[in-house]
Amino acid sequence: MSSRPLPQPLPRSRERGVIARTREELRNALGRAPERTTVGLVPTMGALHEGHLSLIRRAAAENDTVVVSVFVNPAQFTDPADLARYPRDLDRDAALAFEAGASLIYAPEVAEIYPPGFATTVHVRGVTDRWEGASRPGHFDGVATVVTLLLNQARPDRAYFGEKDFQQLTMIRRMHADLALPGEIVGCPIVREADGMALSSRNVRLDAAARQQALALSRALAAMRQQAEAGERNVRSLLAAGEAILRDVDLDYLAIVDPATLDPLETVVPGARALVAARVGGVRLIDTMALQET
Ligand code: PAF
Repeated sequence: MSSRPLPQPLPRSRERGVIARTREELRNALGRAPERTTVGLVPTMGALHEGHLSLIRRAAAENDTVVVSVFVNPAQFTDPADLARYPRDLDRDAALAFEAGASLIYAPEVAEIYPPGFATTVHVRGVTDRWEGASRPGHFDGVATVVTLLLNQARPDRAYFGEKDFQQLTMIRRMHADLALPGEIVGCPIVREADGMALSSRNVRLDAAARQQALALSRALAAMRQQAEAGERNVRSLLAAGEAILRDVDLDYLAIVDPATLDPLETVVPGARALVAARVGGVRLIDTMALQET
């Protein structure tokens, strides 16, 4: 009688965790998982913080195998200096990800994702036109292209994205439906510091004074939400209240939008979203809040 070993779930401990550097290693590692195993994917660019870890924990609670991709995607940076100074520490990220429940890290080189001759760009019309799309031309094409590749390479049952990048999440949902990409897209709530500041990999670049000033973003959103909850429906009035709180930062935009189209609203509707982007101490920050739950 043959004694084939029983398939084992992929290891989850830091010591035994797998780091795949190529598509083939990823495929082989996932191929070792038992049949009918569910796979959760958490795409990241590394520099993991509590926000990413909350996605990994949720993916681990909902799937047998969790792949965390760590790839600083050059195609989504509009400023080469920003790309150059983006923090990279795979050992730290892998340790944190395994600790939070990752089974496998996928950390490809740039040439593995974009091999010589790569000539395809995924562009999602409409939802990418305004806001971050207007401020960072080409950014969303880079995100859409890499997320399509990652979904096709990992073929997850579920892929997890934070709501902080609300426009990114909206675009990914549109693209996922349009291109019939595998699995389900799961949006996860923003993780905030005790004082309300949304967690972001960019926060480490704020000095103490800028960190204090940056609180204006979450405070403006919270004030607008409070007024909406108290019954204010007029978008102009809500924006005026938010702008007053944001007067000391270099505001890029403050908007109240439809949650599906991201078009600006005149009157608050169920699910309406406030979006804000501003430069504080030389760092560009974004935040978002639902003004009224659906
Ligand atoms: O949100 C991010 O960190 C990135 O845009 C993503 C989704 C990992 C694609 O590079």
